[in-house]
Amino acid sequence: MDQLVRAESRRPAGLGRFGEYGGRFVPESLVPACDEVERAFTEAWADPVFRAELDHLLSVYVGRPTPLTPAMRLSAELGINLLLKREDLTHTGSHKINNVLGQALLARRMGKRRLIAETGAGQHGVATATAGALLGLDVTVFMGERDIERQQLNVFRMKMLGAEVIPVTAGSRTLKDATSEAFRYWVTVVDDSYYCLGSALGPHPYPWMVRELQRVIGDEARAQCAAPDFVVACVGGGSNAAGTFAGFLDTGARLVGVEAAGGAAISAGSTGVLHGFRSKVLQDEHGQIVEAHSISAGLDYPGVGPEHAYLAETGRATYVTADDAEVVAATHRLARSEGILCALESAHAVAWVLRAAADGTIPQGSTVVLTVSGRGDKDMATLMELS
Ligand SMILES: Cc1ncc(COP(=O)(O)O)c(C=O)c1O
Repeated sequence: MDQLVRAESRRPAGLGRFGEYGGRFVPESLVPACDEVERAFTEAWADPVFRAELDHLLSVYVGRPTPLTPAMRLSAELGINLLLKREDLTHTGSHKINNVLGQALLARRMGKRRLIAETGAGQHGVATATAGALLGLDVTVFMGERDIERQQLNVFRMKMLGAEVIPVTAGSRTLKDATSEAFRYWVTVVDDSYYCLGSALGPHPYPWMVRELQRVIGDEARAQCAAPDFVVACVGGGSNAAGTFAGFLDTGARLVGVEAAGGAAISAGSTGVLHGFRSKVLQDEHGQIVEAHSISAGLDYPGVGPEHAYLAETGRATYVTADDAEVVAATHRLARSEGILCALESAHAVAWVLRAAADGTIPQGSTVVLTVSGRGDKDMATLMELS
């Protein structure tokens, strides 16, 4: 593999640069806060005591390692060897908990008493509310009004766990606006509050830190299957894909990220700045951010983490899209073939594998590792409406 990709993938250069992407584009008032997080994480990540506490919680609380389940019937139907990395089996039901526990332990180490978070599908909000309850930290979650409507189960879960959920009424009332509001709020309470970002995006050090906290997915999967031909994951902000890919960057596996057709920042976007980082974003000719549209709240975001923009540019990973209709069909097919009701976000990866195995993009006999980023309970109301 290209030396530069390898080096920058491990620890990005300068202020979090992945090639020309990444960086830290924040108001002056947030620079010391980002510096403080970077310093604290750099120290903590090198501290065996911190790592041991996180590993312990990932084991006894989250339920790691998660299994790599052979999808027996689907594999036979498609003529491939499909292996599912089961993040849906983690406590709280998605990969978000891996990142959140690391950041919540960091917040406590930094002496903060409150976690702030944004959420789209509600999975990151639920994970943050859970970690707050576990470690005795207050939690404030920003969530777009539209997402509150379509993810009521997760809103109730957050409240049950003791979190305050603040509805965001601006813009498209989805994840982008919730993230903007969370940043605005962080500026006002930065002394005692920690911003627990939910994906591999935002100003440095977040993309790097979140990728490192999610690499447990890829490292485990590599130990469970050393040499797959394809490694596939859905991409919203890009945290489950970044964590999965991290385990396979130096192998010969083809890495494939699947974006929502209506939120395809890499496939349909151009270079711009959003939420404190430079990457591929959906924007018009005046640089105004264009709204994303996806059936899955977690992929309904007009940007993507900077490492993915870099992996796409260097050719190390390929990015494709799946539309709402094939995602719903893929959700049904996985449920009926394997008895696994996955999240609509994860179903994007399934949809692409179904298509690519059928048209020969994935050759017969290939071994495919697919990250099932979360379980589908939260999406039952959406699916019920459709049927
Ligand atoms: C189950 C699930 N998968 C994937 C995502 C997308 O996030 P990311 O691209 O950061 O993994 C989300 C976001 O809410 C999610 O809830």
